[in-house]
Amino acid sequence: HSTARTCIDTEARVQGLALGGFMGVGKTTVGAIVAARVGLPFVDMDGVLVARHGSVAEQFRLDGELEFRRRELELVYELCDGEPRVVSTGGGVWASPLCRGALRSSYTTAVLHAGLDTLQSRLGSGPGRPLWASASTLWRGRQEAYAQSDGAFATDDVPIAVVADRVEAWWRAQ
Ligand code: S3P
Repeated sequence: HSTARTCIDTEARVQGLALGGFMGVGKTTVGAIVAARVGLPFVDMDGVLVARHGSVAEQFRLDGELEFRRRELELVYELCDGEPRVVSTGGGVWASPLCRGALRSSYTTAVLHAGLDTLQSRLGSGPGRPLWASASTLWRGRQEAYAQSDGAFATDDVPIAVVADRVEAWWRAQ
């Protein structure tokens, strides 16, 4: 086991991993760490959308949230091609039944959780996140959606590297 920290020793796990959760919970950091450790490509959905269409703030301002959500769904469908990879979603993706359903049918899914106080202390004024002003309402409204995943990981008071260890260990055991 010591030599093979790659996807080779996890042959039984054919599906990739999709990570959900609220803004600031650590999806991108954990996804990048886990992907590197298991030797799979990493896709950060926000990163792809920014590369294609400009900053998230600009997309909201110029094109509107509805168009941003349409782009997210389009990308989710692209990512449901059966290729194993690790995907970090934007915080709103899990709140869309279409996005969530598609990801859940193509990926093993894990949601990272944190209380609003933790997220607020991590993100401060939420720079670059146009919906941060509504964070408390959104956080409450999305809990039911975030509860729907194969794995769930608390991140309050847990160093992000430890969260990544736990997600990796859990996923390898799937
Ligand atoms: C959003 C979360 C953001 C980004 C956009 C909308 C949301 O992603 O997609 O600002 O609706 O929660 P992060 O979760 O990476 O901050």
